[in-house]
Amino acid sequence: MGRAFVYVILGGGVAAGYAALEFSRRGVGPGELCIISEETVAPYERPALSKGFLLPEAPARLPAFHTCVGANDERLTPDWYKEHGIELVLGTRVKSADVRRKTLITAMGETISYEVLIVATGARALKLEEFGVKGSDAVNVCYLRNLADASRLVNVMQSCNDGNAVVIGGGYIGMECAAALVTNRIKVTMVFPEAHCMARLFTPKIADFYEGQYESKGVNFIKGTVLTSFENDSEGKVTAVILKDGTRVPTDMVVVGIGIRANTALFDGQLAIEKGGIKVNGRMQTSNSSVYGVGDVAAFPVKLFGSDIRRLEHVDSARKTAKHAVAGIMAPEKTADFDYLPFFYSRVFSFSWQFYGDNVGQVIHYGDFLGGKFGAYWLDKGRIIGAFLEGGNREEYEAIAKVVKRKTTIKDVSEVERRGLDYALRS
Ligand code: FDA
Ligand code: NAD
Repeated sequence: MGRAFVYVILGGGVAAGYAALEFSRRGVGPGELCIISEETVAPYERPALSKGFLLPEAPARLPAFHTCVGANDERLTPDWYKEHGIELVLGTRVKSADVRRKTLITAMGETISYEVLIVATGARALKLEEFGVKGSDAVNVCYLRNLADASRLVNVMQSCNDGNAVVIGGGYIGMECAAALVTNRIKVTMVFPEAHCMARLFTPKIADFYEGQYESKGVNFIKGTVLTSFENDSEGKVTAVILKDGTRVPTDMVVVGIGIRANTALFDGQLAIEKGGIKVNGRMQTSNSSVYGVGDVAAFPVKLFGSDIRRLEHVDSARKTAKHAVAGIMAPEKTADFDYLPFFYSRVFSFSWQFYGDNVGQVIHYGDFLGGKFGAYWLDKGRIIGAFLEGGNREEYEAIAKVVKRKTTIKDVSEVERRGLDYALRS
């Protein structure tokens, strides 16, 4: 048995939703496009899962956050796909792909063939077992990647009212979940191996600000170490985490956010792989010209960084790579190479920051670290290549993005230091 489509999107996450909207706007016909997703719901804005979805009051629930509301665009409900003749093959895992034959085989054994394939398989959460720790399948240990994980996390949180949680990992998931747990009146201990939180992006000074804010809300940080095992009760529930130095941290629940791996396995040996992702060119085309890669799974050349190949794990990149791939498929002669300014953001408690570019080179901090409006520029070879701002408004965020996009040349570092945000606003 089998079905055939002109266009197939493999994966039903953020990138899939934005690609579908772009296909429909570019006139894809009924029955030409299909999305295959292991998830049982239509594409949604994944960032909501660690923010609005976890709120104790008026939490966000589907259908409110289907794509593409995150970019203030149309909300694609299941009905939208029906009305546009786009087939949603949900709850269906693709178990193998053959790019030479242009076919995918689902776990149920169905063959789906395509003329053009967009791979949007995203990533999976790393498991503690991959670091030698056993028992993370306990009922009160939570990971967070998809809607099912988020629903489970809400249930576990609700069963821990006024209790304690240990958060493993000091990255995005760790920080956003710790904030959500606090908001749900759960006392949090964060454990991570680095010297400060968000080590992939934050400088020690920036991290210090957020850690101070978390501490003021009762969060306890245990830094520079990892857990080695869990202690369980007779029903298998985790009751404590044991750290490398033997410290025992009693807990009612655990949230784990220790990074991700891109879902490339279906294409290993078939497509070029780089930086842990499927390597694509400036039109998001892989080493097979009928196959495109977008979102977390794609490693693409970033013009701004001298066309260095990067794999970005952020929603803005997923949205824009998806739209760009579709433009390249539907109007190849009119589509230039992707020119992307990397953009990351987060919101926790009443804080909100944005970052543009790359965080390498000399750092210049600016602003009021006590008052909560501050930032940093990253300078490389005399030019601004990265910028961070906490507590900005739209005009200010646009200004820092602009100085990075232009790679503004700095003649006098002390002037940038002195003027801070104003330097971007008046450049
Ligand atoms: P995504 O993971 O969204 O989708 C992949 C899809 O492919 C899934 O539906 C999956 O089931 C499916 N799939 C995979 N293999 C399959 C197979 N073999 N067969 C069928 N289906 C398959 N970023 C940011 O910039 N700001 C933010 O605030 C946040 N917040 C945030 C919160 C949480 C909880 C997470 C997990 C992530 C974020 N992110 C984020 C990151 C952002 O969500 C991420 O970069 C995008 O979702 C990537 O979009 P993709 O479509 O590439 O993958
Ligand atoms: P991450 O890469 O941001 O952080 C991983 C963290 O894991 C590290 O900071 C480190 O502290 C910790 N770690 C690594 N090995 C460990 C070990 N053995 N034991 C304990 N801790 C260990 O990854 P994440 O926080 O898991 O986030 C997953 C994905 O979700 C990322 O792609 C991220 O970009 C995305 N996400 C993004 C946002 C956002 O952009 N606002 C929010 C949530 C999730």
